[in-house]
Amino acid sequence: MAYQSVINEARDLANMNDLEKKHVPMIHIDGTPKAGEPFEVTVWLGELLAHPMEAGHHIEFIDLYLDDTFISRCDLSWGHTYPKACFSVVMDQPGTLRAFERCNLHGDWTYSVNITL
Ligand SMILES: [Fe+2]
Repeated sequence: MAYQSVINEARDLANMNDLEKKHVPMIHIDGTPKAGEPFEVTVWLGELLAHPMEAGHHIEFIDLYLDDTFISRCDLSWGHTYPKACFSVVMDQPGTLRAFERCNLHGDWTYSVNITL
């Protein structure tokens, strides 16, 4: 049997169900990005409905991509972390920042924002 990866995303951000509220990563851009200058990108989840960080149910990591290029990963351990990560990013041209997170029970979730410089 072939393994098929499924990446979940919110169907309607204004009307998310409880599973989406717990898992869809949010992206905050600090300030107005300028070409060639570092800016902070914060990715977190569970603002609308907190996600557990327990042994049996937790977020394992948060990844950030620029278009299809991997930028960075924040590994999380249950019990002592909140599912939130801050990345310092430099972009030379407009692109799409894509956040991914993995829940050990509910799989991979994504959200993206277009950045215009
Ligand atoms: Fe979950």
